[in-house]
Amino acid sequence: MSLSKSLNKILIIDFGSQFTQLIARRIRELGVFSEIISHKKIKNKNIDDKIKGIILSGGPLNVDQIKQYSFDKEIIKNQIPILGICFGHQILSKLCGGRVKQSKYREFGLANIYEKKKSILTKNFFNKKKTNKVWMSHADHVSKLPKKFHVIASSQNSKFAIIENKFKNFYGVQFHPEVTHTENGKKLLSNFIFLICKIKRNWSAKDQKTKLIREIREQVGNNKVICALSGGVDSSVVAQLLNKAIGKKLYCIFVNTGLLRKNEEIQVVKTFKKKLKINLIYVDAEKEFLRNLKNVSDPEKKRKIIGNLFIKIFEKYAKKIKRVEYLAQGTLYPDLIESRSVTGSQTSKIKSHHNVGGLPKKMKLKLVEPLKFLFKDEVRKLGLELNLSNEIISRHPFPGPGLAIRMPGLITKEKINILKDADYYFIQALKDNNLYNKIWQAYAALLPVKTVGVMGDNRTYEYLCLLRAITSEDGMTADFYDFKKSFIQIISNKIVNSIRGINRVVYDVTSKPPSTIELE
Ligand code: XMP
Repeated sequence: MSLSKSLNKILIIDFGSQFTQLIARRIRELGVFSEIISHKKIKNKNIDDKIKGIILSGGPLNVDQIKQYSFDKEIIKNQIPILGICFGHQILSKLCGGRVKQSKYREFGLANIYEKKKSILTKNFFNKKKTNKVWMSHADHVSKLPKKFHVIASSQNSKFAIIENKFKNFYGVQFHPEVTHTENGKKLLSNFIFLICKIKRNWSAKDQKTKLIREIREQVGNNKVICALSGGVDSSVVAQLLNKAIGKKLYCIFVNTGLLRKNEEIQVVKTFKKKLKINLIYVDAEKEFLRNLKNVSDPEKKRKIIGNLFIKIFEKYAKKIKRVEYLAQGTLYPDLIESRSVTGSQTSKIKSHHNVGGLPKKMKLKLVEPLKFLFKDEVRKLGLELNLSNEIISRHPFPGPGLAIRMPGLITKEKINILKDADYYFIQALKDNNLYNKIWQAYAALLPVKTVGVMGDNRTYEYLCLLRAITSEDGMTADFYDFKKSFIQIISNKIVNSIRGINRVVYDVTSKPPSTIELE
């Protein structure tokens, strides 16, 4: 693996930590370019004068494995500042002549560290009491300090929680400054890169955009790429990136399943075909979806039918476009982490989530995943840089199976129309009341029961509408949003008064777990 030669950078040597990408992300946030390379691939001959500092990441290895570890030790002889984090701190200590031992008391989670000595690394890092809360995750610790190193801070169980060799500019921290649980962790990283490595700011969302476009061009060459466009944030950003990179060699396929939000298909065509001039293949498959879903009420069956239809439609259109070699996807970094089982244990299947991830294996297409090292908020910034509208960038997530899984029981055109309207009024009210951006995801659902009501002195017997609005970090866990009574009243009145077919509104107050975000 060769390193980019164009910019001054911080090199992150990855020892397999879950947080390596988070280190890179923090450095990007500080406005500096960084590159990650595996510990197995880095060779001292690749170290050039563009590398202004090296960070050794954490990793799952233990002391015994350090002994038999093959890592190009010459790297520490380059007179480049080094910061070792967690396992990186241990390996740096070991390479410099220190000792690493299994800890009697392991430290996982929050720990207090105490300042022992001033250091440039910890400028403005400790609080007034000379302590700081940090996040630890280690079973081994440095038990003997290498020669010419000093202790900067200790915790109860790690005497050498921060160490330095000022003359060599080598620093080691037993904790993880890159995670948000470590107070002022970003300050410590900032001190390392700006005060110790003396690198200048050289990275922005604009640079990110230029780099990704260049990489896409290098990857796909003259080949054609198809992209499944859903109109959501991730696929929209991918489509626009590819549009800038390869223009008419990109073919976006947008499937109108008939199960989209109100007017969504009109907006997608308007934005992508008319405004952004993207090659958009619009597939009106509403009838096909509804025909296949007729008489189906089982949630898993609905999901399977919809997933298979997507694949069928994709295959059909991909065949029509000749010489398609690649499929572009909006995979994000958290998607990659979550799809790996960290413990190796089997997880139980709650729902058959589907997206186009199932496509490439079957269709034998190579993947283009330009966002796979980015986090959602970075993708949103990139989207703005690509001139996508705020409306697209800040959209709530919407599931592939669409309204089908927000309508327990049978799916009919009548119910879809009622639901589209209810959802529209709810989302509009959130926007009008400045609530939309405070909520991670919100939607209306239609429950398969009718209840009795009274309107204008007449008895009504109509559907029950459920509103769901949640706060969340990543959709893995969620809590319901605590609306004021007045807002709930306004939206409930609006829905019942405006939509024929609904005479009662309920608000879902369950969290995830035990519920899930969608109903099915
Ligand atoms: P659940 O209902 O599992 O949803 O708590 C978590 C998040 O995933 C979305 N979701 C899906 N997204 N295909 C998707 O692309 C799917 O099949 C799917 N099912 C659920 C859901 O909207 C929420 O944001």
